[in-house]
Amino acid sequence: MPNPIPELCRALADDLRLAGFRSETLRAAWGVEADDAIGRTLRTPALRGLGDRDDALATLARLLIFGVAQPAAAVDAALPELGSAGLAALGLATVAGDDVTPTATVRPQSFHDDRGPGEWIVAADIDELASGGGPLDTDYVLGVGGASLTLAGLQLPTSAGRVLDLGTGCGVQALRARRYADQVVATDISARALDYARLNALLNGTDAIEARDGSLFEPVAGETFDRIVSNPPFVITPRATGVPEYEYRDGGLVGDALVERVVAGVGEHLEPGGIAQFLGNWETRGGERGLDRVRAWVERSPVPLDAWVVEREHLNPIEYAEMWIRDGGTVPGSPEHDALLTAWLDDFAARGVTSVGFGYVLLRRAVGEPTLARYESVPQPIPSEGGLGSHLAAALAAHDAQARLTDAQLSMLTLRAAPDVTEARHHTPGSENPTVIELRQGGGFGRSLSADPALAGFVGACGGELTVGQIVGALAQLLEVDEDALSGALLPAARELLVDGFLTF
Ligand SMILES: C[S@@+](CC[C@H](N)C(=O)[O-])C[C@H]1O[C@@H](n2cnc3c(N)ncnc32)[C@H](O)[C@@H]1O
Repeated sequence: MPNPIPELCRALADDLRLAGFRSETLRAAWGVEADDAIGRTLRTPALRGLGDRDDALATLARLLIFGVAQPAAAVDAALPELGSAGLAALGLATVAGDDVTPTATVRPQSFHDDRGPGEWIVAADIDELASGGGPLDTDYVLGVGGASLTLAGLQLPTSAGRVLDLGTGCGVQALRARRYADQVVATDISARALDYARLNALLNGTDAIEARDGSLFEPVAGETFDRIVSNPPFVITPRATGVPEYEYRDGGLVGDALVERVVAGVGEHLEPGGIAQFLGNWETRGGERGLDRVRAWVERSPVPLDAWVVEREHLNPIEYAEMWIRDGGTVPGSPEHDALLTAWLDDFAARGVTSVGFGYVLLRRAVGEPTLARYESVPQPIPSEGGLGSHLAAALAAHDAQARLTDAQLSMLTLRAAPDVTEARHHTPGSENPTVIELRQGGGFGRSLSADPALAGFVGACGGELTVGQIVGALAQLLEVDEDALSGALLPAARELLVDGFLTF
């Protein structure tokens, strides 16, 4: 059990700082290629890169990042304030004779948000990188993974009073939220996860994170928040004998019901105008698209919600099962793998599931009638996935601003094409006029859209001088089309382009 003793956490943080235990220093110690290999769960190249170094940084890296037992004397030297006994008292290692054996990982995690670069130290359970593989325990507490970083990057970089982090795990979303919030309530059903979250808050010198035990919204009954963030246990898992129920990823419900419950519950826990951001899976069942099912959940919410749901990928049932069986540490080819795969495919077949979508959900407690209902598939690579939060904040502000304008008011404004927008024209060989005009966005979601000559001309003329109405009038003359009809086509497009960040006010 991790044991969040404040003075020992401070001592560990001081010792790690003194040793230069930082992402950049460590990457320099073992090299860029070995660092990339860590991302593929290979520790050998990095351990080779450390060679026979016996300084504090190398000792701590072997012990805390890669899970390799170290001599007690070396650990005592590397942790001059805490010592190996202190590390054991924190529940992060055991000491037997001359050996210190890690029972957790402690890793630096660099990040970048609107306030600049930063780095956390995050403790969590021993993972595949540190253990070398094998099935996980069902009460395993996850460290910072790809999904954690995705959600951390999606969090809006704007001030908030109170934030709820539902299913906090090691507490990484709570740490991220606290950079912009006065107070964070972090909940989990796992006592071990909550102790890691407390320990990590202490290690990072972050106060005002309160860890509470309980399922879903139970620990915050009757309370409201300005923000809710959650990387919930959304993994779809068959309820069959022999299938492990991992706390870190599986909420114990059938199919995608856990995500449906989160959607159903957030509204009453948000302040008016408050925003929930979470990740999820949703099934396409019996021909009904996953995104449409999410829309139906949102529409059933007892509290009216604005919604922006972005499906990033979808997998067929075999791919989905393969991915999560592998994630649990069971390798293909074994009888266990075959049994699990059968259970997953039976489960999907029972509900007529043909694919599973994964994506981001943003819900806002509407003030008045909801004005935002976007359910979209965004499969392209995103230029800066870690920095989407500021794009989302700008997109929401642009949505609200344009929604307040009548078409007549919009026509009187001057707009500008965003600086990251470029245009590509494709011609069939020998033809003078383009057959396809493409507008591309360098930042944000990295969208591209095909534009007709009127829309391309409109965006090209948005330089902050002519009003929207003047541009439409000039284009109508140039293209010899009816001005009202052109306005009827271009104004809704301009509104979308403002929200997507191709145009700015
Ligand atoms: C995927 S992990 C997310 C951890 C962390 N927030 C992150 O972003 O990396 C999901 C967390 O939800 C917790 N959990 C599982 N079932 C839950 C429930 N019914 N209510 C609240 N939390 C739950 C798990 O213990 C786990 O810590």
